[in-house]
Amino acid sequence: MCGIVGYVGKQQAVPIILEGLKRLEYRGYDSAGVCVQNGRKLKVEKKAGRVDNLAKKIARHHLTGTTGIGHTRWATHGGVTDANAHPHLSSDGKFALVHNGVIENFAQIKAFLARKGYTFRSETDTEVLCNLIAYHFAKEPAVKGQSRFLESVRKTLRHVEGTYGIAALCVDFPEEIVAARKASPLILGVGDNEYIIASDASALVSHTQNVVYLKDGELVHLTPSAFTLSTLDQADVSPVVDTITWSVTDADKGKYPHFMLKEIFEQPAALENAMRGRFAADGSTANFGGLNITPAEFATMERFMFCACGTAWHACLVTEHLIERFARIPVEVDYASEFRYRNSPLDPRTLFFVISQSGETIDTLAALREAKRKGHRVMAINNVVGSSIAREADGGIYQHVGPEIGVASTKAFTSQLLIGAMVALYVARMRDMSFSDGVQYVNALKSAPDLVRQALKLAPRIKAIAKRYAKFHDMLFLGRLSLFPIALEGALKLKEISYLHAEGYPAAEMKHGPIALISKKCPTVFFAPSGELFNKLVSSMQEIKALKGPIIAIVTAGAKLPKGLADEVITLPDCHEAVLPIIASIPVQLLSYYIAVERGCDVDKPRNLAKSVTVE
Ligand code: G6P
Repeated sequence: MCGIVGYVGKQQAVPIILEGLKRLEYRGYDSAGVCVQNGRKLKVEKKAGRVDNLAKKIARHHLTGTTGIGHTRWATHGGVTDANAHPHLSSDGKFALVHNGVIENFAQIKAFLARKGYTFRSETDTEVLCNLIAYHFAKEPAVKGQSRFLESVRKTLRHVEGTYGIAALCVDFPEEIVAARKASPLILGVGDNEYIIASDASALVSHTQNVVYLKDGELVHLTPSAFTLSTLDQADVSPVVDTITWSVTDADKGKYPHFMLKEIFEQPAALENAMRGRFAADGSTANFGGLNITPAEFATMERFMFCACGTAWHACLVTEHLIERFARIPVEVDYASEFRYRNSPLDPRTLFFVISQSGETIDTLAALREAKRKGHRVMAINNVVGSSIAREADGGIYQHVGPEIGVASTKAFTSQLLIGAMVALYVARMRDMSFSDGVQYVNALKSAPDLVRQALKLAPRIKAIAKRYAKFHDMLFLGRLSLFPIALEGALKLKEISYLHAEGYPAAEMKHGPIALISKKCPTVFFAPSGELFNKLVSSMQEIKALKGPIIAIVTAGAKLPKGLADEVITLPDCHEAVLPIIASIPVQLLSYYIAVERGCDVDKPRNLAKSVTVE
């Protein structure tokens, strides 16, 4: 996972590329580089470290030119060094290349090229790919009406196994870029006599909102005045120009110190956007425009299977609970990475769902393909419009929450919970749920944004709690039923951004192992909403108290805890079961955020993590 940007037009390329790379840093931030076509030369500057490091280095050298490419890296082949940073040059100096993905047969290609006299300065698969382009270029005859540059890239890609989003420059073709994709995202921004190619729209939206989403196996050839799309088989493709509906301010931090905090506070609006126009006129069920499956077909399904990774997998678990509870249909949830290799037997009347914020997570995409290969229809719950998963799914539901930049998912997660709750309602109303229960459920979902607003008012109190708990090294998160996945999510958030050891468990499982961890040094975040299990939750808390474990209790207004049982009490508004996981997510998001800040961690770019994992 890396970010790439390329510019061709009339403006200076470097500032545009650097701005784009800054916005793509969530995809990787261990090294960065740019290359500009400057007269008859390719000039490269690259450096290990963040884009800002690179910008400082470039400020000392004048890197002028109106055509260029750039890259922000997340190391997969070779360590984090200046030499391994992209762009890479071919050993004859003719080509420069940036690449997002993994070339699986790079070792064979490298050995072949070495025999032909090509040399390598880095350990990367990208440098091998760049030299292979140079090799084909040297052999490629000049054919009238054809670009030799484009044809040599095309020929190269036919020999490549693996995944790529690439952008290349050629010294003999000033003012041209050739880019291509297979399984790594690439989007073309169409401007006025200028084009920007990038891994995602946030890198180009400040320049244009007109875009073309490249498909797998497509190449694009750019000059300042035109672009052409074609396939690996040399067939021309007619471009479809889409318009991005969000603007650059959506991808800025605004008044917030971090994207994560901004996105936490965007949740009321995000939830409103996710449900807008998605309730039936009678107010008793949900309505989805993009499922591409009729209600009658939907009703014949006897089982649902949900696959995802990371935070989205937690959204699957909550959805499982709500569908089984309200629609009484069995649901299975699997990690996408496991499902793709498990060869799980699936009944033909199983409807398959994947959940993915980015729509580019390679394991989720592979699970989708595996399910389709077995003849299942696949629905995607996905945020990024035009993503690979959105395009390959048979139908789906967009989350519509705008760009999520913080690596730790927040607004995308709660909108997945909301959409999962709406799917449960949709199916439940096809089965046993009554009209009046449906109306009550819909009204509950509609109240979610306001309830989240109330929960967000707890931020100062949670910040004060975080200050007291930031010094601990271990933390347990316990919850039951639909809040068990939120306990998992709370633990994951804390691990991701503050590097504390945290574990989530169903509260009653505590006695089967985790209880051994409890001591003065290991606090427990305990979800204890009002309801039929409340007394059991209180008993579990009493056990923790007896072992001197500090307790941060997250309760709802109707839950009256015995005095002095918890060290900290965070009280959420009472709400419907379908909404509770959404509201309960807010305090754990805020807690992990403020603990990470207190510990001086880089919240938006946690170590070793990237927002979308596009390699296996
Ligand atoms: C990465 C991110 C997680 C995210 C997961 C799935 O691991 O660090 O925050 O939940 O990918 O991403 P997706 O885009 O498929 O929801």
